[in-house]
Amino acid sequence: MWLTNSSIGRKVVMSVTGIALILFLTFHLVMNLVAIFSTEAYNLICEFLGANWYALVATMGLAALFITHIVYAFWLTAQNRKARGNERYAVVERRETVKWTSQNMLVLGIIVLLGLGLHLFNFWYNMQFQEIVGNHEVLLGGQNYAVHDGAGFIAYTFSNPIYAILYIVWLIALWFHLTHGFWSAIQSIGWSNDLWINRWKVVSNIFSTVVVAGFILVVVWFYIASL
Ligand code: HEM
Repeated sequence: MWLTNSSIGRKVVMSVTGIALILFLTFHLVMNLVAIFSTEAYNLICEFLGANWYALVATMGLAALFITHIVYAFWLTAQNRKARGNERYAVVERRETVKWTSQNMLVLGIIVLLGLGLHLFNFWYNMQFQEIVGNHEVLLGGQNYAVHDGAGFIAYTFSNPIYAILYIVWLIALWFHLTHGFWSAIQSIGWSNDLWINRWKVVSNIFSTVVVAGFILVVVWFYIASL
């Protein structure tokens, strides 16, 4: 099949899943910014997104997107390395012409993935997963949190400066990954040309900066609130 057999087909899969993940991230940011304004409203959203059938279907769809994006990333990188052969080491000029982020998308992606693992452990595992296995509360740091108390889990997690720093490092890696990934995805899908490519690069930079700054604001806000 074209989407699995050809290099451009695989790039299209990376791009479409990447754009879908960007849409999720936008929704996720808006949802998390609510926590700054109203912890009650935030917890209502968390309850709505708990272990209900539609939220579970969405979670599985999201997991499929992440897994496809990651598997194809390794596949494309392996294929590119094979195609380039030893040249990879001989061409020095490339280093100057190809941007740092472009050469390191896989490494950045792996940092983003490790951060995501930690994040799912901090939140999803304590919330939706506990609800699936029938628990209503979770004991953390000597205090009980209801599984829908998203605001409580945010406050608990970011009161720890180590977690706050780890999340900020994770989010900066995400910024580099997104600034390149966004316009690159648009280009692979064929929505770009010589004129639009530079515009898409500007849009990518603005979008990534707003999203990452928004998430960092949530981390810093709750860290400061805990002092
Ligand atoms: C300040 C930063 C963030 C906060 C406070 C936050 C908060 C949360 C919370 C509370 C949940 C659990 C929702 C539930 O199970 O009902 C969650 C789930 C999740 N978060 Fe985040 N998040 C942040 C950043 C991110 C980022 C940057 C990503 C992606 C790169 C991300 C990806 C996810 C995913 C994939 C889930 C699981 C969603 C599901 O169960 O369907 N989060 N997050």
